[in-house]
Amino acid sequence: MPTYDFIVIGSGIAGLSYTVKVADYFQQRQIPVKIALITKTVAEETNTKYAQGGIATVWDSADSFEKHIEDTMVAGDFVSDRKVVEIVVNEAPARLKELIAYGTDFDRQADGSFDLVKEGGHSDKRILHHKDSTGNEIERALLAKVKSYTSVDFFTHYFAVDLITQHHLGEKVTKDTPGKKCFGVYVLNLKTNKIETFLGKTTLLATGGIGQVYQSTTNPTIATGDGISMAYRAKAFVQGMEFIQFHPTALFNPGKKPSFLISEAVRGHGGILKNQDGSTFMEKYDARLSLAPRDIVARAIDSEMKKNGTDHVFLDTCHIPKEEILQHFPMIYDHCLQVLGIDMSQEMIPVVPAQHYLCGGIIVNEHSQTNIENLYAAGECSFTGLHGANRLASNSLLEAIVYAHRAFEKSVSEYGTQVLPEGIPSWNDEGTRHPEEMVLVTEMTRELESIMSNYVGIVRTDRRLKRAYDRLELIYLEHEELYRQSKITVPLCELRNMINVAYLIIKHARAQRENKGLHYNLDLIL
Ligand code: FAD
Ligand code: SIN
Repeated sequence: MPTYDFIVIGSGIAGLSYTVKVADYFQQRQIPVKIALITKTVAEETNTKYAQGGIATVWDSADSFEKHIEDTMVAGDFVSDRKVVEIVVNEAPARLKELIAYGTDFDRQADGSFDLVKEGGHSDKRILHHKDSTGNEIERALLAKVKSYTSVDFFTHYFAVDLITQHHLGEKVTKDTPGKKCFGVYVLNLKTNKIETFLGKTTLLATGGIGQVYQSTTNPTIATGDGISMAYRAKAFVQGMEFIQFHPTALFNPGKKPSFLISEAVRGHGGILKNQDGSTFMEKYDARLSLAPRDIVARAIDSEMKKNGTDHVFLDTCHIPKEEILQHFPMIYDHCLQVLGIDMSQEMIPVVPAQHYLCGGIIVNEHSQTNIENLYAAGECSFTGLHGANRLASNSLLEAIVYAHRAFEKSVSEYGTQVLPEGIPSWNDEGTRHPEEMVLVTEMTRELESIMSNYVGIVRTDRRLKRAYDRLELIYLEHEELYRQSKITVPLCELRNMINVAYLIIKHARAQRENKGLHYNLDLIL
């Protein structure tokens, strides 16, 4: 069984930036170290790659840390942990400087200063970006850097199935068991279809979001909540799952999954939300109009669509000079033209809210540590307390690099202290057979997406949540039976994880008895 000093699961901004730092630390000290970087498809297929708007940081002297902290608190409906908000905002410039040193190219103005832009909920221009494809640029730079370290073994097309804990040594492990430890992970090698055991002294979960649980999402297909579900099964603590962020402006293109995002930066640049008859409506909902925080804008659009019996609204950019659109939003311009034949400098863009981000996740402390020893989490799969009830735009990439750094500092300081036990067993799939009923997995996945979209969306009620819970239980029972009898496949595992994540979302939503940020239950206002 291969043994690693560090196992990193996920090759988005959180996993890659952590890997670079750990590899660099040991290289500089000439200490031989073994790092496994595991990712389930190709290296770059991540939520990170699709990030458009940018990454928030206080950079300009006219801006201040206090303002960024306050904006984050306001957007989060004052549910955020202020101490965590202060940590992230204050450490942001140092982490951004590192990203730049790794080779990330952020857009600059003619005088060489960064071209800072504004998005919803921000009181100042503080978003660094690379045109409208910031994530792709960050992913490119980090991947190139990671590949320069010989200490990193990169495993693409390897699917992490379950974390290894004392449970696998035959011990009973519950949520309350003290001293729970992680010893690595069981991983399905997609080239051989065999499960391999990766023993690890330190494991970082950087597995990203959960968007595939919904019918319409901006997240790519990898976003099935695997890390959260693995951690939950290993008895890690999870919080804030009711706070699902719906981005107000995904391109309306029915049947297309994932949905293409029309960045909030377009509204930051003057784009105006309108009804199908061309009338504006945001003035009825918030003084910040189209640039109010996302929960407010998404609910406003949802309410207008219900009132008018329409399935989308419009984003009007026709008043923005074409050169500016082409300079700032070349990818969005091209996509609208190529896919829907819409020239956004002359026609309004049809938009609709779509699931975009999970504010909750695996609870971590200020050092990115979970409640399981040697298990860290960073990025979208984690819950730090930063986002509260609603994430401020462009604070996600930021949280990921700040907490990946904190995980790096802590895990490197603990290097050499962990001992792996003897006798960790290989994966046992005796008595299972190749699943013959793949149609069941496909259908169960469809049912799950439909339940979550219909009953656990932007507007909820107690009755809808109960219905969702009851329907999900049937799918859970059916899937459990199939899972027990079958050899592991990715669709089977992803469905297992999505059922688990959906269960947590519904459970937390039913327990949340106050409307806060993204959680909006009609029964709590009547
Ligand atoms: P990801 O980048 O999603 O990486 C997850 C990794 O985990 C992937 O490599 C995946 O393959 C791997 N993985 C998952 N499960 C397994 C498994 N079982 N086995 C092995 N590997 C696994 N945020 C901002 O701050 N600014 C923006 O402008 C912005 N724009 C966005 C636009 C879009 C369209 C989307 C979808 C999101 C956007 N976000 C933005 C959010 C932000 O991009 C994500 O929250 C962030 O990139 C998450 O990074 P991550 O490293 O946590 O996870
Ligand atoms: C966007 O570009 O609108 C996405 C920004 C974010 O999710 O923070």
